[in-house]
Amino acid sequence: MSDRQDAPLDIDALLNELTVEEKASLCLGSDFWHTAPVEGLQIPAIMVADGPHGLRAQLNEADHIGLSGSVPATCFPTAAAMGSSWNRDLFRSVGEALGRETRRWGVSVLLGPGVNMKRSPLCGRNFEYISEDPWLTGELATAIVVGIQGQGVGTSLKHYAANNQEHDRLRVSAEVDERSLREIYLPAFERVVTQAQPWTVMCAYNRLNGTYASEHHWLLTEVLRDEWGFEGLVVSDWGAVHDRFAALKAGLDLEMPPALGFSDAALVAASRTGELADEVLDASVRRVLELVSRSQPARAEPGSFDEAEHHALARRAAQESAVLLKNDGAVLPLQPSPGMRIAVIGEFARTPRFQGAGSSQVNPTRVDVALEELVAAAGSDVEVVFEPGFGIEDGKTDAEKDAELRRSAVELARKADHVLLFLGLPGAAESEGFDRTHIDLPDNQVALVSAVGAVHDRAVAVLANGSAVRVSTWQHHVAGILECWLGGQAAGAAVVDLLLGAANPSGKLAETIPVRLEDCSSYLNFPGDPGVVRYGEGIFIGYRGYDACHQPVSYPFGFGLSYTTFRIDDVDVAVAGSVADGDLEVRVRATVTNTGAVAGAEVVQIYVGDVDASVARPVRELKAFEKVLLDPGESRQVMLSLDDRSFAFWSTRLARWAVEAGDFEISVGSSSRDLAVTVTISLEAPSVAPPLNADSTLHEWLADPRGRELFTANDGPPVLQDDELVKVIGTMPMSTLAAFPGLGIDHATLEHLVRQL
Ligand code: BGC
Repeated sequence: MSDRQDAPLDIDALLNELTVEEKASLCLGSDFWHTAPVEGLQIPAIMVADGPHGLRAQLNEADHIGLSGSVPATCFPTAAAMGSSWNRDLFRSVGEALGRETRRWGVSVLLGPGVNMKRSPLCGRNFEYISEDPWLTGELATAIVVGIQGQGVGTSLKHYAANNQEHDRLRVSAEVDERSLREIYLPAFERVVTQAQPWTVMCAYNRLNGTYASEHHWLLTEVLRDEWGFEGLVVSDWGAVHDRFAALKAGLDLEMPPALGFSDAALVAASRTGELADEVLDASVRRVLELVSRSQPARAEPGSFDEAEHHALARRAAQESAVLLKNDGAVLPLQPSPGMRIAVIGEFARTPRFQGAGSSQVNPTRVDVALEELVAAAGSDVEVVFEPGFGIEDGKTDAEKDAELRRSAVELARKADHVLLFLGLPGAAESEGFDRTHIDLPDNQVALVSAVGAVHDRAVAVLANGSAVRVSTWQHHVAGILECWLGGQAAGAAVVDLLLGAANPSGKLAETIPVRLEDCSSYLNFPGDPGVVRYGEGIFIGYRGYDACHQPVSYPFGFGLSYTTFRIDDVDVAVAGSVADGDLEVRVRATVTNTGAVAGAEVVQIYVGDVDASVARPVRELKAFEKVLLDPGESRQVMLSLDDRSFAFWSTRLARWAVEAGDFEISVGSSSRDLAVTVTISLEAPSVAPPLNADSTLHEWLADPRGRELFTANDGPPVLQDDELVKVIGTMPMSTLAAFPGLGIDHATLEHLVRQL
């Protein structure tokens, strides 16, 4: 064996030399953050650390809920924020920075990104997830994985799968039908695995349809490895293993943190009795060794990173993550002029909330405070005055104190030229570990907005929250709303850049802002009953649900304003190849023009809807997008390609993706509800209908070209002459109709027809 620290391990040789006990030990960590070393064979331990938007490397401490300290690291905007950037390049750059920091501290795997779907805005961990849409999530997460892994360290794609709530997350069984899994809950994982091969995938805590994700052979082996071709290692979420042997057999390679003396003993015992086949144990050991081996070069040469540069990147990322929801009368950007008075109201301007709580909590290298940044940027001849307006301590409110704070804030607003209201969710309102019970801002903030709105008609709300909050109860009191999410350590400076126009908002909502919580399709089934949550809304989560029910929303998926305006036109759709040959390519071309006076970025979004399908399908689904930066007056042509998957649904009958022949609407626009152009195309495709037989209904026979031909030969039975009757009895199986006299269909004719088919 070589002494070189960065030399790859000779895995085949090691597998021959390792004892069963050593092999079992390798399938468990050695402590909270490390894999197990095997000293005699020079197999080192490697370190893993959270989390998605910043490194949480605990060199001397260990916890997975954000209690103890960790090394200083750049806190980038959370996934909820970055998701709104719709910018793959940005995700990649942030990934590269995360990778550099991970490498610098000798950490081999960064435990992220999280790609679970936002099934409900209540999920306490939504800030760590990207979107309610699987395609957007998959695309952006792929970019960050490529960025991180390009630095020689790994990622952990999590939490696989159907971990969409915090409530009872370690036990609850998510009851999800296969079509919803395939179309909504799995595609982001699939995309990242097939496009970027994350070094590891982390299984979820919860059960899926009764079986723990950690023991789910279909999830961990059949789908992940056999179908998608995953080549890396499956690690458990921290504490997700209940039966180490069952988990290993299902495809879980590494248990974290280790149940030392217990899980390894179970594996050794199963191996001794022959219950655990050598190949199964060896396969997992091989993957652990491969992980250790591929991380060697980076561990031998950790490198360094430039804190200031990463902070600047975090600032750019926060700028791109903010979504301008409302800007009546172009209240933004502010144009400071000598003698102007800007009232800054809201505790969050002074005490920023920029990240969520739990395992992803980062110890930032520095934190920008919006109030200080504004004072500096506005200049000495502009007066910036501040009032906290409300308290945020521990989420508790003190009515009397709040009334007093509100009175002072209103007095300040009355005498100001501009009013900026820094609102949001206090840290205690959302976190890993529990879900919210409502989506409102705290009462003291809603009361403040209406009191300030009564004395100032051009106030602007600046929001800091990790998941959608209701705006419908208070937005009429303000002229502008800038949704900044939890924007990371540089959010304070980025917000000021946006408010003063040094940066132009370009974020687009990656999650719908509903009018009321009750409008969400998951409302009746969240967070479920003891031990079980039924995904009753099926594939209709997020905008898929609101659109299907024609529900008004406060701000739709994909929405976001800019300080400039755009036009999308000159749309052309060209179809090449075919579904039957598996080479369908639908090319969509559009021109986007900046029609305003300042540079800005627009996201061209392409949605596809199956107009007439045999199964329930969403009105439209995002299938492609491109963010384009344009100078005033500049035009750019965007070319995007759709393949057959863009038109397919998961057929449970055929157990595969299927495209149904017929019309499809392709809409191009700037949000899911602002679609400049819709083009209808017609696709030919092999039939996905089940073959006809005696149990098929009259309607089904008539809908099938061959069935109709046979059935209507020589004018067919008399029943066909009566349209009204056909409507009534058309849903009955032919075999039933054959028993009814007078319809002209008898068993002998039916048998003859079926034979002819
Ligand atoms: C979280 C994971 C995290 C792990 C380690 C768990 O509680 O669900 O996302 O990576 O802890 O901290």
